[in-house]
Formats: sequence, structure tokens, C-alpha cells
Amino acid sequence: MKKYNVGIIGATGMVGQRFSLLLADHPWFNVTALAASPRSAGKTYEEAIGTRWAMKDAIPENLKNMTVYDAVADIELIVSKVDFVFCAVDMKKDEIKALEENYAKHECPVVSNNSAHRFTSDVPMIIPEINPQHTEIIESQKKRLGTKKGFIAVKSNCSLQSYVPALYPLDEKFGIDKCLVCTYQAISGAGKTFERWPEMIDNVIPYIGGEEEKSEKEPLKIWGEIKNGEIVPADSPKFTAQCLRVPVSDGHMAAVFVTFKNKPSKKEILEVWKNFAGEPQKLELPHAPKQFIHYYEEDNMPQTKLCRDIEGGMAIHAGRLREDSQYDYKFVCLSHNTLRGAAGGAVLLAELLCAKGYMD
Ligand SMILES: NC(=O)c1ccc[n+]([C@@H]2O[C@H](COP(=O)([O-])OP(=O)(O)OC[C@H]3O[C@@H](n4cnc5c(N)ncnc54)[C@H](OP(=O)(O)O)[C@@H]3O)[C@@H](O)[C@H]2O)c1
Repeated sequence: MKKYNVGIIGATGMVGQRFSLLLADHPWFNVTALAASPRSAGKTYEEAIGTRWAMKDAIPENLKNMTVYDAVADIELIVSKVDFVFCAVDMKKDEIKALEENYAKHECPVVSNNSAHRFTSDVPMIIPEINPQHTEIIESQKKRLGTKKGFIAVKSNCSLQSYVPALYPLDEKFGIDKCLVCTYQAISGAGKTFERWPEMIDNVIPYIGGEEEKSEKEPLKIWGEIKNGEIVPADSPKFTAQCLRVPVSDGHMAAVFVTFKNKPSKKEILEVWKNFAGEPQKLELPHAPKQFIHYYEEDNMPQTKLCRDIEGGMAIHAGRLREDSQYDYKFVCLSHNTLRGAAGGAVLLAELLCAKGYMD
């Protein structure tokens, strides 16, 4: 595989920091541009981050002294240095939409962690193991944007990256009628650490703005079909969600209740999970977990602290599958929110797009 030059837009943020670690010694990608707000522009990466570095590993040596650009004002310079960019910024939704379209119109593909374009009908929202075929919509998007190479592809919200992978292969085989999910979400999902958010120590906050809507609506786009140049969201399975913020640094847990059209046995469900592999596994993409869904028989597993980093934080963990008195089954699942759920998921998506030739 050839090496691609890449940029990180929002490099100083929580997700941007994850990107910098994942990309520092990536076999296919070489970081050649870092960008953030005008507050960081002109400083070295290390200076711009200041005391905000929130990762366990140190700032990568090869990025420390790179000058951070202004993501908006320096766009011409940035696109001249890269083959494509990753984007994770904290700006108003319409500003992010405009920023990402501007990069695409400069013939620079954007792999985005932001929610702004998730419901633009010709922008694919991809979990690479589940709906890689949605890359086909990119041709329609390029026609709308008037580009040859530039496009936007997004990943879905971190809250659903544990339960959608567990449910999707079950729906394919047995049909899901309805699903109730409660998520227990880490503080890094809000771009925070305990130092910067001491109110979260010994606390649970029963509200995360916009998260329940995303958790119910985004799966239907992932389940959607391409028709007449658009991704038309599915109208089932039906989801209802409650999302809570819990005092955990990284890792979103979900408690799931599900009813099927054709109720499988527990053994059949475990068989589906064990054998579920997608294009990333078949193509052996660098960030693809070898085993996508890890199932645990122990009653007290999966645990956030013990499981979130397995397979580089890219695997999904499930446990406690049992029959329920109101739904057919209940179980729990877990994924690392800033790895599989954010930067890692975007890197895997970029690897898929490279393998399919979209970045050339
Ligand atoms: N954290 C997660 O688990 C997670 C998961 C999935 C998706 N996301 C999404 O990823 C995005 C970033 O999240 P985060 O947690 O990394 O946020 P964050 O830690 O607050 O970082 C925000 C980044 O945006 C940059 N920025 C702010 N205003 C800007 C401007 N006017 N122009 C250019 N850059 C600007 C900041 O640069 P400065 O440092 O210069 O201010 C910083 O690099 C959000 O859309 C979020 O919803 C986050």
C-alpha cells in the first residue's frame, strides 16, 4: 500500500489527540498537517496543547514541533500538503458543515467525527464492518459538490458503537422488532478528564444533550439503502434510548433489551457474534480487530477498565446474554468511545476508503 499524507483538523482536542497517537506510526498514513482554531494557530503542537494533553502516552515526537495551522484561514496551505484530512472540531453545526464542504470542494476528502453531516443524504455514515457498501453514495455526492476527488464520509456517534455492531448481524439473520437501550457514557465523550470536570467524580448525570436522539436515529441510516442518489434510512428496527454520563474516563457501556421477529436461541445468538466478520477483517485493514465481537461468559464481564483497550480499543465486548420477561433477550455491551467510537473508527474508515481506491 502506498503512503498517504494526512492532516488532522481539530488536532488539539480530545479526539484530535487520539488521532495524533494512532497516526504517528501508521503503516499507510503520514501526518503532514495539524490544524485547530485561531487560538492555536502559529504555535507548535506541544505549545498549542499546553496542559490539555489527556492521553496516557506522550505527545508523539514527530508531531511535537509541527506548527499548527488555522483550520479555516489556512485551508489552501493545508490541502496542498495532504491527500485527505481527518476532522474533529468543536464548532457550530453550520460552521462545521461549511468547513467540511470547503475541504471537499478543494478536492480534499474529509473523514469526519463530527455530527454536522451525518444526516446529509448523500454523505455515507459508516461502521466499516457493517455498511461498507454505503461508500457507493460517494459518486452522487461528488456530482452534487462538483468535485473529482473531494467528498465527506462520516462515522456515527460513539454511543451506538457497542450495540449496533451486536444487533446488526442478529437483525440480518432473525429480524429485530424493537430494541431498548440505556447507555453509560464516559467523560472523554464530552472531551473531558476528571481534572477538567471534577463535578463528575462520584456523580452520574442523567442527560447528555442530543445523545438520545442520535442513539435512536443514527442506526436507521446505517441500516439504510441507497436509492436514487440518496441513503434512505430504514424504518426498523425501532430503538428507544436513555443516555447517562457516568464517572468513567473512557469506554461507553450499554444495557440492551431486544425482541426479534423470529426469536433465536441463546446458542444461535452466540454463534452469530462469534462468526461475525466484515470487510475490515477480510481486507486485514491495519486497525481491524481480529475478533470483532468478544463474548464473555463470566457474570461480571465485560468490565470497562479490563476490556476497553483489547485489540487496540477497536473490538466490541458483550456479555450477560439472557432471556428477559418483557423483551426476548437482554445483554450488555461495551466499546472504547474515543478509539472505536471516535478516532479509531475514523482511521478504520479511512483505511477502508484507501483500500477501495477512494483516496487516489
Ligand atoms: N470525545 C468523543 O468521544 C467524541 C466521539 C465522537 C465524536 N466526537 C466529536 O468530535 C468533535 C471534537 O470533539 P472533542 O471531544 O475532540 O472536542 P474538544 O476536545 O473540545 O476539541 C475541539 C477541537 O476543535 C478545535 N476548534 C474549536 N473551535 C475551532 C474553530 N473555530 N476553528 C477550528 N478549530 C476549532 C479546537 O481547537 P483549539 O484547541 O485551538 O481550541 C480543538 O482542536 C466534536 O464534533 C464531537 O462531537 C467526539
